Amino acid sequence: MESEAPLTNPLREGLTTERVAAPCTLVIYGASGDLTHRKLIPALFGLYQKHLLPTAFHLIGTSRSVISSETFRANLKRFLKESVPHLSDTLWEGFSRNIDYLPGGFDDPQAYAHLSRRLDELDREKGTSHNRVFYLSTPPNVFEPIIANLGKTGLHREEMGFSRLVLEKPFGRDLASAQYLNRKVRDYFQERQIYRIDHYLGKETVQNILVMRFGNSIFEPIWNRRYVDHVQITAAEDLGIGGRAGYYDSAGIVRDMFQNHLFQVMCLVAMEPPISLEAEAIRDEKLKILKSIRPLTPETLASHAVRGQYGQGFLAGEPIPGYREEPNVGKESNTPTYAALKLYLDTWRWQGVPFFLRSGKRLPKRATEVAILFKYAPRLLYQGSFANLSPNVLILRLQPDEGVTLRIEAKVPGMSMTIRDVKMDFSYGTSFIQNAPEAYERLLLDCMMGDTTLFIRGDEAEAAWGALMPVLNAWDHTEPAEPFPNYPVGTWGPASAEGMMDKPWRKWRRL
Ligand code: BG6
Repeated sequence: MESEAPLTNPLREGLTTERVAAPCTLVIYGASGDLTHRKLIPALFGLYQKHLLPTAFHLIGTSRSVISSETFRANLKRFLKESVPHLSDTLWEGFSRNIDYLPGGFDDPQAYAHLSRRLDELDREKGTSHNRVFYLSTPPNVFEPIIANLGKTGLHREEMGFSRLVLEKPFGRDLASAQYLNRKVRDYFQERQIYRIDHYLGKETVQNILVMRFGNSIFEPIWNRRYVDHVQITAAEDLGIGGRAGYYDSAGIVRDMFQNHLFQVMCLVAMEPPISLEAEAIRDEKLKILKSIRPLTPETLASHAVRGQYGQGFLAGEPIPGYREEPNVGKESNTPTYAALKLYLDTWRWQGVPFFLRSGKRLPKRATEVAILFKYAPRLLYQGSFANLSPNVLILRLQPDEGVTLRIEAKVPGMSMTIRDVKMDFSYGTSFIQNAPEAYERLLLDCMMGDTTLFIRGDEAEAAWGALMPVLNAWDHTEPAEPFPNYPVGTWGPASAEGMMDKPWRKWRRL
């Protein structure tokens, strides 16, 4: 007999308040897609295992494929086994009992009428209490018909229970399309019903940025222009584009990583303390940061923004083709797979402090971090053994090897005054033993609980696009100054990125 009791962890005792969501039905559009298989179903299964799904819960998958509920469940099981190799049949039976499938065209009104009847039936039979979450895990070009049809069928109404809409990224592809999409969504749904996903916000370490800053009294006094020299935010990936050329080649790294993930992380690092931990209070502060980004101009662009694309090279000793050799990528594609930006935030706190952001595909390894590089200690004693002092650095390691490191200077034991930098380390692995939940588990649970804190508000999405438009307009319409490809697979991006560092002591961190 297999035990379903969650493991208890003495190091976490008293640390968490586990939350249970209200009864509801989750409808996933794009249910036969990759995201559903790779992320959503494993996350829902994880919640089920932890007893965090509502007692009355039902999942309806829908997409254009005409398959039966049995086939749908069998497909889900097959994919789930990839992430849970020892999937227990008992657990799967319990979980899949509450899953079925409805085929239907996204613009077919009949399909929505059918769905509406099925939802009513479930409310009667399973007690799902007229609470519905509609998750759009589809390509963005079908958001509009789905939203309009949900609205015309009255499924956005909340007279008897809640109705929530989850939108996967990308939310638009520029400012104008994001504004248009916001208008279309708001034709039927109110902002409090809308959950725009950025899975980085679901990451435990990203949430910890706020706790680090505002839960400790020692960091906040130095978290400003008086002490901080500059900030570096890096999201490096060794992976390429997988099978996603269709999306990626028209998006590129700026749309894919900066508009959402990197900007959200920057907001959490840079924002003022919110007046409360309520969703709107936090989102208001993030919005101020996005609005404070000093616009890049044709004059500053050349020195503040670097783009790159990988060419063939080696990773872990294996030869890897370049971006233009990837299936379905044009031989002359100028889509950037690497970008680095130097941004200034025009706020009182950050005046004159550059924020360097970089992200790239096919770099030597996967590493996402925020580094706060402090100013040098006063140069008064800078002679002899003190000449090589390094500035202090606080590193928030978001993934992998999640944790926080403070780099400080120390005397090497011995008769002479030799100084070296050493690390004070906090690692999630050793402090909490338990693995952090998957980002999607947290986000799905929050959505079922009605907590919008970790989702992007409409005005934030627009402000982020607004700040990037000068870069996108320039890069979409001009050839790169340095012909692509300009960095080989397995290197840290184009050499020109080094040139962005405008002071002799500023260097990209080696990860
Ligand atoms: C996604 C991007 O949003 O984030 C991908 O579309 C990228 O291109 C991924 O690989 C990175 O996420 P993570 O969680 O692996 O850092």
